[in-house]
Amino acid sequence: MYRQDVADRELDVVVFGATGVTGRRVAAYLSERAAEIGLRWAAAARDADRARRLLDGIGVGAPEMIVADVSDRASLARMAARTKVVLDLVGPYTLYGRPVIEACVAQGAHYVDLTGEMPFVRGIIEDLHGAAVDAGVKVVQVCGFEALPPDLLVALAAERAREQWRDGLVAADVAVAFAPPPGLPRPSDGMSGGTFQSLSTVAGDEHAAQIADPAVLITDPAVAAAVRRVSPIGLAPRRGADGAVIAPMTPAPFINPAVIHRTIARRAAAEGTPAEPLRYREGMAIEGGAASAPVRWAIAGALSATQVGLRGLARARPSVRRPIAGALARVGPSSGFGPAPERLEGWRWTMTVHARTSGGREFDVGLEADGHPGYLATARMLGEAGILLAEDGATPHVAGCLTPAVALGTASAPRFARAGVRFHTGVRDAVASGAR
Ligand SMILES: NC(=O)c1ccc[n+]([C@@H]2O[C@H](COP(=O)([O-])OP(=O)(O)OC[C@H]3O[C@@H](n4cnc5c(N)ncnc54)[C@H](OP(=O)(O)O)[C@@H]3O)[C@@H](O)[C@H]2O)c1
Repeated sequence: MYRQDVADRELDVVVFGATGVTGRRVAAYLSERAAEIGLRWAAAARDADRARRLLDGIGVGAPEMIVADVSDRASLARMAARTKVVLDLVGPYTLYGRPVIEACVAQGAHYVDLTGEMPFVRGIIEDLHGAAVDAGVKVVQVCGFEALPPDLLVALAAERAREQWRDGLVAADVAVAFAPPPGLPRPSDGMSGGTFQSLSTVAGDEHAAQIADPAVLITDPAVAAAVRRVSPIGLAPRRGADGAVIAPMTPAPFINPAVIHRTIARRAAAEGTPAEPLRYREGMAIEGGAASAPVRWAIAGALSATQVGLRGLARARPSVRRPIAGALARVGPSSGFGPAPERLEGWRWTMTVHARTSGGREFDVGLEADGHPGYLATARMLGEAGILLAEDGATPHVAGCLTPAVALGTASAPRFARAGVRFHTGVRDAVASGAR
């Protein structure tokens, strides 16, 4: 079942949390797209005057401001009832996400967020997948830099392997490379206060240890066991193609793998075939440039050690973990802190998937992108995902708690060019021996 009766909603997309570092950028993107395609959108926040001031300050005239607060369920119901899609930017999601999702499912609006808080996503799948299916609603989580690009790329690779050679994928190695804007890097370039608070919240979560589980989003125990066996999350630095050193994905290597494995499991379930987990690896390429090889290995080693420390914290006893998480939340940056506007545009980044098929074929798919990956490209991708979901027939007819690739479908990939993210599927083929 898939919801078709929302065509008469007065709004296509609402961005909730429009005052935040990321929410403001989503509003700016929707405003641009409204001028191009006549999108009907509104901004939602708990303080409408403040939201209007902040948006005016960045040149975004929101056509309408909706007052909504996560602690006021009636306000969430009113917001969700008016629109086809809610884009939720109110984090930490572990603290604030559930009532928004419940309101969307109850009111028949598709829901999209940027969470990377995997125990929260697992809980939502367990509790709300069935209700979302019954309501014909798409609940699409982890739909920003994590994990839309690698999720869509691996799905595109799987599609190509199937269509070209009738093969399955057995391995996918993802490498991302970033080129920041010129000038001295600033502390605010990397992570917003909202993201830092979300990480601290996960560290203090009852189920924090789940973050290191690549199968955390898979509810079938047999499939989950196979994923853990075939594709554990590795944190050691390794050598990549072209002499690059591959460090663990930043800011967190624990998010994308779980999403990609869920996509594979959901697709197999939809096709009625057994789920065949692939070996998924990802990381950040530290390329030559000015840095010598020992320096690159040292940087990768430091990044690995940080992630090993985070995983250790997540696995520690609550009596150890909670005070540390609380202290991090107090001393770290909070809401409102984030990259300066002039540091958002100049970023360039690429992502490549090196795929191997069951028949021994090897090929690459990839993307090239502009804009800060976490706070500009992410905002634009989220905005475009919302527009796609509001468009009748633009995405597959499927409902429930879905990954970006399952909710949006591989046919959506070219649409992200408008968001500055250009997917390509036919580069640098290397046909292995025994090719058919
Ligand atoms: N995976 C990714 O690629 C990615 C990228 C970027 C961000 N994120 C995630 O997205 C989330 C937002 O990040 P951010 O940096 O934009 O955070 P932020 O700047 O702290 O923004 C948080 C937003 O939530 C709103 N809010 C807080 N409490 C509320 C309530 N009770 N009712 C209504 N609104 C409320 C805030 O409104 P006020 O202004 O009224 O306080 C603000 O608009 C974080 O969880 C972050 O981890 C993920």
